[in-house]
Amino acid sequence: EKSKETALSHLFFTYQGIPYPINMCTSETFQALDTFEARHDDIVLASYPKCGSNWILYIVSELIYAVSKIQFEYPEFPVLECGDSERYQRMKGFQSPRILTTHLHYDKLPGSIFENKAKILVIFRNPKDMAVSFFHFHNDVPNTPSYGSWDEFFRQFMKGQVSWGSYFDFAINWNKHLDGDNIKFILYEDLKENLAAGIKQIAEFLGLFLTGEQIQTISVQSTFQAMSVKSQDTHGAVGPFLFRKGEVGDWKNLFSETQNQEMGEKFKECLVVTSLGAKLKYESYC
Ligand code: A3P
Repeated sequence: EKSKETALSHLFFTYQGIPYPINMCTSETFQALDTFEARHDDIVLASYPKCGSNWILYIVSELIYAVSKIQFEYPEFPVLECGDSERYQRMKGFQSPRILTTHLHYDKLPGSIFENKAKILVIFRNPKDMAVSFFHFHNDVPNTPSYGSWDEFFRQFMKGQVSWGSYFDFAINWNKHLDGDNIKFILYEDLKENLAAGIKQIAEFLGLFLTGEQIQTISVQSTFQAMSVKSQDTHGAVGPFLFRKGEVGDWKNLFSETQNQEMGEKFKECLVVTSLGAKLKYESYC
């Protein structure tokens, strides 16, 4: 098991203190990102991996389509910091509004997003379901580093030695900024509980005016069932892995009692006193 952990460390590279997957990110791309020119009407979806970014991306693109009939163009890599360093050049040709998904920590985002006051949706999910989703993603998707066991992944996750670094650092980093004018917090579990209400809030934040009937139509199209059925058409071969289970509480299938306690302690230590800690409703979902 030890040698597997050592082997995995070669699948990441560290850029400004954060590990990233070597098959998706490069330092050239990060350098090019520094000079990325965000537009005022860009919509940024910021989340730690596996918190539902593809779900929100679909919802936002449907909202835009309903209002303007503009069909969102998916870049070859939806995640802003992934892919080749020329991509930002190509993105200059994309029509507005562009939707930029990112897993970057707040302080790693290109400054032009803030200078040009792009709107930012920050998506969070309870760390236990998110960790289970991340584990399955690594182990299910071909050409993605896989872990020997859930226990091994959990150990690395708690140390922050996984792609995009520590969930807790990511959360602490975003915590101070969630009340900004152009920033809206979204909780995966809230959307699961009332999808139509969540979609309506997202539309209002983006200044998009839809009828109740239009909101209802989008909420029917964006349930997990509806999205997973069409996932191969919308997302290609990786579709079934991106739309795996879509449930709240899947952590119970993998977490041991000790791991449950360890996560609870970590949450307490890092987040319980923060305003984000309350927003995450840890007690309700964990
Ligand atoms: P699971 O692995 O728990 O199923 P991301 O898009 O950020 O990679 O997040 C992926 C997670 O969001 C997956 O979680 C996926 O199933 C879930 N998801 C995607 N679409 C969803 C939807 N319409 N409703 C609920 N969950 C969804």
